[in-house]
This record gives sequence, C-alpha cells and structure tokens, in this order.
Amino acid sequence: MSGSVCSPSVWWKSGTVYQVYPRSFQDANGDGIGDLRGITSRLDYIAWLGVDALWISPIYPSPMADFGYDVADYCGIDPIFGTLEDFDVLVAEAHRRRLKVILDFVPNHSSIAHPWFAEARASRKNPRRDWYIWRDPAPDGGPPNNWLSNFGGPAWTLDETTGQYYYHAFLREQPDLNWRNPAVRAAMHDVLRFWLERGVDGFRVDVIWHLIKDEGFRDNPENPDFLPHQPEINRFAQVYSADRPEVFEVIAGMRQVLAPYGDRVLIGEIYLPMERLVAYYGSDLDCADLPFNFQLIQTPWRADAVVDLVENYEAALPPGGWPNWVLGNHDQPRIAARIGLPQARIAAMLLLTLRGTPTLYYGDEIGLDHVSVPPERVQDPWERNEPGHGRDPERTPMQWDAGPYAGFSTVEPWLPLSADAAARNVDEMCDAADSILTLYRRLLGLRREHAALSVGSYRTVGLGVEEIYAYERCEGEATIRVILNFGGGAHDLPLPEASTWTVLLSSRAGRAGAREAGSVALGPAEGLILLRG
Ligand code: GLC
Repeated sequence: MSGSVCSPSVWWKSGTVYQVYPRSFQDANGDGIGDLRGITSRLDYIAWLGVDALWISPIYPSPMADFGYDVADYCGIDPIFGTLEDFDVLVAEAHRRRLKVILDFVPNHSSIAHPWFAEARASRKNPRRDWYIWRDPAPDGGPPNNWLSNFGGPAWTLDETTGQYYYHAFLREQPDLNWRNPAVRAAMHDVLRFWLERGVDGFRVDVIWHLIKDEGFRDNPENPDFLPHQPEINRFAQVYSADRPEVFEVIAGMRQVLAPYGDRVLIGEIYLPMERLVAYYGSDLDCADLPFNFQLIQTPWRADAVVDLVENYEAALPPGGWPNWVLGNHDQPRIAARIGLPQARIAAMLLLTLRGTPTLYYGDEIGLDHVSVPPERVQDPWERNEPGHGRDPERTPMQWDAGPYAGFSTVEPWLPLSADAAARNVDEMCDAADSILTLYRRLLGLRREHAALSVGSYRTVGLGVEEIYAYERCEGEATIRVILNFGGGAHDLPLPEASTWTVLLSSRAGRAGAREAGSVALGPAEGLILLRG
C-alpha cells in the first residue's frame, strides 16, 4: 500500500528527536549525576550526530521519588540539574546550533511535596482540596475501588488527617491532579506558557492518556490475559482509570495554549493499542501532534510482524496525521538488549528510514546494552516494589571516552557503566567505519540529504523471503529502496529490471557507492539503502 504524499513544512515532521535522560548524559559538577551544564557541554556532539531536537526528561525541583517525574515546582529547576540561568544558556546554545529543545511536561500528577498538595491535604475545606482526587473509604474502610498503581499495590493511599483516600496512578508520592477542575487546567496552562516564553520548542507530555479518570470511579474489569510474571497493574484492564473520552478536550486545551507560539510541538506519551493510539491526534487533528508510537517496542522482532505493523499503522493514521516511531526510552529495556547488537543495527536503519518522525534514545547510538545493576545499587522505585521490572539498566550513564567513568563524571556515577565502557564510547567509535555510531550518523545524514527518506511516501515491496522486509520511499523523481534482513541467511534479491541502483548505505561498512542492477546480494543481518538511478 502507499502512504499519502505530504509536503511537511514544520521541523518536527522532517526532523528527528533525541531523548536525553538528564541524570545520565553528562555530569559537569562532579556529583555523579548529570546536569544541565553537562548537556550544554555536549551540544556539539548532538549537533554532530545530526538530530534536530533534544527532548530532556524532567529537570524540575523534585524529591526524586520517581527521578523527576514527581514534580514539586513546575516552574523551576532542581539544584541537582542546575538553575534557570543554566537552562536559558542551554536553550540559547541549542538554538545557536539549530537544535530544538523539547521539555518533559508531567501534568497527570505532582509530587506529594508540591505546595498544592500540602494545601489540598490540610483539610477537606481547603480551596485546593479539589485540585487532587479524593474519595471516601469503601464501607469496610479499604480503598474506594480496585484501581492499582502502575508500580504495584493499590492506587489509593489513606490520608489519616482528613480520613479520605487520594488517588495516585504511580507512586503514593505522586498524587494525581484533578484535571476536571478548571483551576488546575488554568494553572497548568500557565506552566506551559512559562516555558514557551523561555523559548522551548515543545513538550513531551507524560502519561497523557491518564489525565481524566471515570467520573463514577467504577472498578476496572479483570484482564483475562493476565500472566503471573507481568506487573500487577496488568491484572485489570485499565478501562475506567485511563483513556476516557473527556481527555481529548483537555489535550485540545493544551494545543490551544501552544497555538499562538507557532510551530511548537506537542508529543503525547501513550501506551495503548493502535486503534486507540491514533485517536490521540484528535478528531480534527487538534490534540497531540505526535502521539508517541511505541509499537516497535511491543512487536516481536520478525520481518512479517514488522511489515504488518507498519501497514496497519499507515492505514490507521487519520488523514493528515503525521506518523512517528520510537525504538526505546528510559522505561524500556535497551533495543540492543531486546534483539541483540547485529539486529540493533537493522533497527536503526528501520527507525531512520520509515515514514514519520523518529525518536532516538541516548546511548542507543553507541549500542548500549542491558547494564547489570547490583542489588545494592538499585535506584528505580519500581524495582523495589516489583523486582524484575525496574528501569535502571536502560538509564545508565552515556559513555564518552575511555577515561575514568567513561568521561561522564569525575566520580562514581549514580548508576554503573557498562562492562565494555572502555571500548563502547563515543571517542572510540566516532571514527570507526563499522561502528553503530557511524551507522547512526550516516543514516541521519541521509535523512537530511534525501527528502524521500524524511518526507517521502511509503510503499511495501514484497520480495517473498520470510526474513526480509523491503520498502520504498519516494519523493518527486527520487525513489529509495530499503532492504532489511531480520535473519541470518544470505540472499540474492531481484531489483526492478529497468533501473540501476546506487548503494547509499549498508549496515556493513564498505558498500556505499556501488551500483547494482538486476539483483543485489544481501548478507546475514544486513540492511541496504539503495537510490534508483
Ligand atoms: C511515564 C514516564 C515514567 C514515569 C511515569 C510516571 O511513563 O516515562 O518514567 O515513571 O510516567 O510519571
């Protein structure tokens, strides 16, 4: 099938996003934790890599119960990360390098330490009481309904002073705000404006599908597919606690705040099945510009499964809805850990040649793998609540060079480095023809060079080989064919008779520039990008 041909004019359609987990990018002040001045000092690297925007996970004042996803002040910077002045410098320096800056916005819940919550819990009559979600105990004194926390255990905590339960979709230190209250919406809109005025280019909105809960607080139904090794949250289908119809009005409200500021982007974090995910573009494309598409993380790594996924996604997109793709983030095992390093190279080629805005996760470009974290160094609260589900292994420091602590810090970092840090680092890999870093950089270069790759149409090419996925991207006269080997076989694959093709890039060094006609050889776990003519 062919995707619609668009002529995107805005940067976030043709551009690529790079996620920086700020605790782990670069430590400038020698405390073992990354910070804003550290990120600024690495902007040259980000620009050199060839991405267009950086999204920074939360940097606001926070007790760090969930490492910044528990916000105590939406308009400040945590001293661990620096100051507002450091932030302004970062934005200015990024813009000087033509890099956009996207902030993480965490509107579903604040920290328990936010002054709003202190007021809300002071008494039932406090004017801010209704800024959060309070319910009376069930008749037996237990929680008001069966909703569970995403990090395990009940989603309700009894506030002894006022005798009511408050709701928290995540930790008890992260009480959910009541987005049905217009005063909450107004306050949060002011937060967005505060950062827009400081020059940010958009927001990645945390758990956007959670913002509105069922008005009647009905029990969630049991999930018949629940398996015992899964996190406890999966025991019930989240029918009433999230993805409620009224959420779209709330998101459209955020979009209206961004509108007068021009081409700022609104990205929504959404873990939902495809047909629900695409609803978050809004009925009139008035909600999220990019509802994050995590389907590549959730789909088995097989050519047939990925072809189906891409076709289903292309077909499900609303007219004018711009696609996007994500391979990894701070909540998911590293791509190299999921599919192995050879296939992680193929995944990079896929991510950067599919139709839609790609988001790269820092460290994937150097092939960071699962990093083992010994029990005494565990940081993630989820790992403490539900062992085995923690996210520390994908949040370890970026590795810059072969020096002490891989150039990340001058002291022992908050999470360990990978065992192969002396070789797996930017310095060692940036000039190596066959490194995954070089592959990423070439891919990003090709995307900029060839409009077909960034904004061209998409068409699956059926080659009838089970482990091969091929497709074409076209724009104007240009046709680019991508052929990816998801398996270990070698193949000789036919090319359309009438044309010759130039190899733009192979996942193996040394083939670029070769001309192919009639057929092309593809090695085990090799990916090829060919330009017609
Ligand atoms: C999002 C974040 C995750 C965080 C959770 C609660 O899923 O990506 O890291 O723990 O929201 O804010």
